[in-house]
Amino acid sequence: MTVEPNVNLNEPNADISEILISADEIEKRIQTLGVQISSDYAELQPLVVGVLKGVLFFMADLLRAITINVEVDFMAVSSYSPEARDQGLVRLVKDLETPISGRHVIFVEDVVDTGLTLNYLLRNLTTRDPASLEVCTLFNKPKHRLIDIPIKYKGFDLPDQFVVGYGLDHRERYRNLPFIGVLNPQAL
Ligand code: IMP
Repeated sequence: MTVEPNVNLNEPNADISEILISADEIEKRIQTLGVQISSDYAELQPLVVGVLKGVLFFMADLLRAITINVEVDFMAVSSYSPEARDQGLVRLVKDLETPISGRHVIFVEDVVDTGLTLNYLLRNLTTRDPASLEVCTLFNKPKHRLIDIPIKYKGFDLPDQFVVGYGLDHRERYRNLPFIGVLNPQAL
């Protein structure tokens, strides 16, 4: 592992060329999503399922913006090689602990890009016979979409750029930025 000198990621620095969405904007949008979900699922006690690790901060903030009873579970998928990715292959490295048959499931993602990961996971969950299955993603990148997936709750559309922060990484770094920023090509 290469350890590089620390930078204060909250100060403008050479790695981030632009802040696209501020921490404040993210917080406000998540509050709205929380209100919407609380109203749509009142009395249904949904199971909120997050996909690790990118969803980390979104899950934490969304759950606190939801004002009804919910249960929480996580899945994790491995990062795939470009070849496997093109075939829509995803390796499940952590499955749910909760049976979802007959449950109302809200599937929470950090970002939907091609849609291949989400499509794989939704197909997998559908075989388990949930009462309903809806998608909530904080970020949507419609430009690269290969599979059309209905997204019920969406935070922001993003341009066709690689972004980091608020859980999103580049080689496991920059997840801890509180905002969404564009990574300088030199840092890629
Ligand atoms: P998809 O299968 O192409 O929809 O990819 C979704 C996954 O790709 C996300 O869960 C992220 O891990 C990753 N990803 C896609 N776009 C970005 C980005 O701009 N920054 C960081 N990760 C991204």
